[in-house]
Amino acid sequence: MLLQGNEILQKAHKEFYGVGAFNFVNYEMLRAIFEAAHEASSPIFIQASEGAIKYMGIDMVVDMAKTMARSYPHIPVALHLDHGTSFDSCKNAIEAGFTSVMIDASHHEFEENLEITKRVVEFAHQRGVSVEAELGRLMGIEDNISVDEKDAVLVNPKEAEIFVKESGVDYLAPAIGTSHGAFKFKGEPKLDFERLQEVKRLTNIPLVLHGASAIPEYVRESFLSTGGDLKGSKGVPFDFLQESVKGGINKVNTDTDLRIAFMAEVRKVANNDPTQFDLRKFFTPGIEAMKKVIVERMHILGSAGRI
Ligand code: G3H
Ligand code: 13P
Ligand code: ZN
Repeated sequence: MLLQGNEILQKAHKEFYGVGAFNFVNYEMLRAIFEAAHEASSPIFIQASEGAIKYMGIDMVVDMAKTMARSYPHIPVALHLDHGTSFDSCKNAIEAGFTSVMIDASHHEFEENLEITKRVVEFAHQRGVSVEAELGRLMGIEDNISVDEKDAVLVNPKEAEIFVKESGVDYLAPAIGTSHGAFKFKGEPKLDFERLQEVKRLTNIPLVLHGASAIPEYVRESFLSTGGDLKGSKGVPFDFLQESVKGGINKVNTDTDLRIAFMAEVRKVANNDPTQFDLRKFFTPGIEAMKKVIVERMHILGSAGRI
């Protein structure tokens, strides 16, 4: 059975660990996430973006998630809409069977973000679904950024306090210097942990880290060894992930690492055997590589062994 997102995150919030929220766009990714959760005895968030929903079809997403959850009844799992861009997008996901939604109105002014989020919260809570919202802009912070520039981009802790109180949102994604994809930092990785701690102190709810892929060296190497190009790529170092969890992060969004790990294996098979066209020969090692990354992440975030 799919659990309400808040059931999983309230426990993580009280016991100070992070739960991986892993994106999927097909059966293979979903299977890797569940097999990893089983191996590491960890709760999980499985999440689909609007793009993933468009690709798979919303009923397929929900049916696959429910079927997998039935096969692993001991694993606490929530099905989450990642970056819902409108009230209607969240409503559709809730009506289809998602148990958690993100309304991402962070590009709007504060008041408008608050209004849209309130509407989603009201609709979702009446139906037993949890809601995530975002404050600030997801982008890397450079070494020479001024205090004013930083304040314009990253979450404002006082605003976060008001936003959480007034919206009734269940968990919040505060921008603290991460960004999506494989190219997160130009210079040395840098996150604003003090700001994170202040948001946690003032809101006291589960917090979410977007753009949390680490691009571990062995994953990058594996991709490069197949002739792949990841020039200039840089992820969030493992110790930063742990520092984030210490600072109050409880949901850790991860997609890019899974894609790179999977595709490196597909590329390897294609390079090594140009005559191969059996899909399973490409995807099986992809699933295994992805699983390894996820299990490792569960240990780093402290969710391993929690069930
Ligand atoms: O936050 C973005 C996720 O990685 C999903 O990406 O929109 O390409 O499915 P997508
Ligand atoms: P990454 O691109 O770092 O994996 O982030 C994924 C994410 O934030 C999904 O919402
Ligand atoms: Zn994200």
